[in-house]
Amino acid sequence: IPTDIDLVNEINKLKKEKNALLMAHYYQQNDIQDIADFVGDSLALAWEASKTDASIILLAGVYFMGETAKILSPEKKVLVPDLNAGCSLADSCPADAFEAFIAEHPDHIVVTYVNTTAEVKALSDIVVTSTNAVKIINSIPEEQKIIFGPDRNLGNYLQSISGREMVLWDGACHVHEKFSVEKIVELKKENPDALILAHPECKKPVLTLADFIGSTASLLKFTQNSDSGKFIVATESGILHQMQNSSPNKTFIPAPPSDSTCGCNDCEFMKLNTLQKIYLTLKYEYPEVFVKEDIRQKAIKPIQKMFELSG
Ligand code: 13P
Repeated sequence: IPTDIDLVNEINKLKKEKNALLMAHYYQQNDIQDIADFVGDSLALAWEASKTDASIILLAGVYFMGETAKILSPEKKVLVPDLNAGCSLADSCPADAFEAFIAEHPDHIVVTYVNTTAEVKALSDIVVTSTNAVKIINSIPEEQKIIFGPDRNLGNYLQSISGREMVLWDGACHVHEKFSVEKIVELKKENPDALILAHPECKKPVLTLADFIGSTASLLKFTQNSDSGKFIVATESGILHQMQNSSPNKTFIPAPPSDSTCGCNDCEFMKLNTLQKIYLTLKYEYPEVFVKEDIRQKAIKPIQKMFELSG
């Protein structure tokens, strides 16, 4: 790429020329969020992808998000800025092992978090995101046994909220697992007026400290509606951009991981995406996301079930 190129200008031109929709997850770098046509959580990205009339969807997030968009909009060209932007949670649940796990619990309904491969979605009865998981679990009849995967932390949280016992797959998000309880307690001591916010992918000791637990979209909304002026935020630090944008007079402190001195907790996969890559992806319409049609037809059903149940 020539060094004098104005990337924002060029990306905007290409978007128009090609009728492309640029969607970004809240964990993307600030400059990507700023140029995106739509910024949202996993549920909102899936929903937008299902109803857009754009010819191209460029999904700046991690691979399963692009795959979900392709499952929902197979006639669209779905592009991602970097094929290496994977997800540790999706990787923690290989389809063949999950299929064997389901076979060990034959009379269970299979509920999976959206952070999975298309193959795992194809094995599922209902997909959930952190925005609608509580509502969907509560809607399942009491006597129905449930398998939940792949996130054991979200699974444990759902069990504690709903009172339902579920068979849990033993997976986790490497970013949310590494928040330091000690450092959060220290931050709270230094900022006694701050509320602690946490994503349900965090481990139980962190969730125990939290004043509010929710998906990225719910945490953002909470900061907008709260009377408090200060928050310690235990999720990937990309979300702070929209929090700060919509509440410029409030203070947002990223909760730190135990293994870092930088103070914030970034997902290295989310952060693989850059404006340069977005420009090249739009220009050359590569890399493209493909999902095998037989898998897609199975994988779309639990996602549609999720839309139906989440209202
Ligand atoms: P939400 O944005 O749906 O809360 O999910 C966060 C996440 O795990 C993204 O990978």
